[in-house]
Amino acid sequence: MDDAPGTPPAASMDRLAARIAACTLCPLSLSRTRTVPGEGPVPSPLLFIGEAPGKTEDETGRPFVGRAGKILTGLLACCGIRRDDVFITSIVKCRPPGNRAPKRDEIAACMPYLEAQIALLSPRVLVPMGRFATVAVFGMYGIPFSSFREVRGRRYVVREHRSGREMTIIPVYHPAVITHNPPARQDLESDFRKLAECIRSTPGSHK
Ligand code: URA
Repeated sequence: MDDAPGTPPAASMDRLAARIAACTLCPLSLSRTRTVPGEGPVPSPLLFIGEAPGKTEDETGRPFVGRAGKILTGLLACCGIRRDDVFITSIVKCRPPGNRAPKRDEIAACMPYLEAQIALLSPRVLVPMGRFATVAVFGMYGIPFSSFREVRGRRYVVREHRSGREMTIIPVYHPAVITHNPPARQDLESDFRKLAECIRSTPGSHK
């Protein structure tokens, strides 16, 4: 997935999005309307990683623009973060039929795209949202995963595979949790408050 040395990261990200649009590595390519590679500034100090596109994302090709997206935008605003200032993607770039959870082989097929995005974005802070994204990101950096409840809101420092740069991972609940479990709102908001603290104390992660 490497471009010629000196290619600006934003140009490489566009090429990567084109590669994702043509991807047929897993069966989700047969049922998708559009791929959803992610959007935001390149490079970006903050990277938010969801699970998989839903119906509205599949129709528009943009991440987090449906119900969960509205919740995410509101949570970011509460943390003093403008949505346009962060890169948002998901571990799987195509919608699973009927919004089912992505399967293990679908996630595995898509992970090289996330890995390439991380290399291009040079983020300071990675925010996997929900259990699926957390398991995938922990797997990428060899962090043992116990249970989501145990790891959410905590910080994990890793090194980016290509550059060796230090990055902090802070898992939070997926914004959609409150659509099926309204009492989880407190936990969700508490995770984003911890995230805001983490961002404030991480040099280079905020404007
Ligand atoms: N949920 C996700 O995890 N990703 C999206 O893009 C939309 C909803």
